[in-house]
Amino acid sequence: MQAFRLNNQTDLRFGPLKEADLRAAVSQFGDRVLFVYGGHSIKASGLYDRVIEALSGLNVTELPGIAPNPKIDSVRTGQTLAKANAVQVILAVGGGSVIDAAKVIGEAANYAGDPWDLVLDSKLGLSTKQLPIVDVVTLAATGTEMNINAVISNPETKQKLGARCSRTPAVSFMDPSLTFTVPARQTAAGSMDIFSHLCEQYFDREPDNDATKGMIEGLMRSVIKWTPVALKQPDSLPARQNLMWTATAALNGEMGAGNRNGWSCHAMEHQLSAYYDITHGVGLGILTPRWMHYVLTTDPTTTALFVRFGRNVWHLTDADDADLAGHAIAKTLSWITSLGFGMTLPAVGIPDERNFAPMAQAAGKRLGNAYLPLDAAAVTAIYRASMTP
Ligand code: NZQ
Ligand code: ZN
Repeated sequence: MQAFRLNNQTDLRFGPLKEADLRAAVSQFGDRVLFVYGGHSIKASGLYDRVIEALSGLNVTELPGIAPNPKIDSVRTGQTLAKANAVQVILAVGGGSVIDAAKVIGEAANYAGDPWDLVLDSKLGLSTKQLPIVDVVTLAATGTEMNINAVISNPETKQKLGARCSRTPAVSFMDPSLTFTVPARQTAAGSMDIFSHLCEQYFDREPDNDATKGMIEGLMRSVIKWTPVALKQPDSLPARQNLMWTATAALNGEMGAGNRNGWSCHAMEHQLSAYYDITHGVGLGILTPRWMHYVLTTDPTTTALFVRFGRNVWHLTDADDADLAGHAIAKTLSWITSLGFGMTLPAVGIPDERNFAPMAQAAGKRLGNAYLPLDAAAVTAIYRASMTP
């Protein structure tokens, strides 16, 4: 196993959200609050009113309208508001996009320059003092509530990049019942994101990291089992509980402990989102089985890990290893297809290959040390395979 350091400071509160607890968590840092949220969902569900009630008497500045695939302009607005109001704490209420934007605003509040600098160079953020982040998670997907990552898009430069913040959120409230209202397509995309985070950390060259691999397999079985339940019955509490906890556990650092990790599908997907603003989990759903097929057919030494994946995650028993490895990919494809979103690039609004060259170039640059190293030609082959069913 690789050496690792795991230092996660998030105070996690899993269970029914209580207004008094939310108020105490926020006000421990001061009474000047920046309240960051997305579109209409928290108003439609009544959560907005509950938050405003919880914060009554505090000095609250609102930043609404954080879009999916959060854009750097919202972060810039947040930076201006945080400085102008001498904000002491940020409360983010929403999905990964809202929380990610809040995290970078938290860094930018004490930074003199443009927040995009902090995305391009995480070391700059580490040198600023990040405002504490309190969040209420409304969608099970990214794990941002317990990690240091924040993914921000810059439409002008066609870039979608992951920044590394100096700290994980201070307090994260995880009330699974708040995800009952997540529409089926977003539930499916969120679950695909969770599954992908697990795959990215599982398909790894570290030979003896059985502890981490075993935990990942358990989390994979959880997301595979509970996603169809949540899709069929959106207010199933056990389904929403399992998905929410699985999402956090999948990307709070523990499942990467001791691994090397390539994050191949994420590097390729971030290019799709950067150029076409598609939903992150949907892009991952399209790419993941094609990536698996490419890896297995290009490098036969990967068969053993696909066999382990097939046995321990999909409960397959084929006698022949090559059959079992292929069968595991077929099961993965069939589960993703059952989630119900488009499974080709044209189905999600990417009609042709015109941007493949720069996208593959950018993704390939980051994948020289991946599980199977991928250059621009390899990435292009995977994008091409994603054009047809
Ligand atoms: O904007 P509102 O109205 O809130 O609606 C949102 C949005 O339209 C809606 N939604 C959220 N909670 C809801 C709800 N609708 C009804 N009921 C609820 N309870 O869902 C839509 C999508 O929200 P978004 O926050 O974009 O989804 P998600 O949580 O999947 O976040 C995706 C973003 O996170 C990044 C992705 O790239 C993408 O930008 N990632 C962040 C990571 C991290 N920080 O560690 C890692 C991931 O790999 C990922 O890259
Ligand atoms: Zn992801």
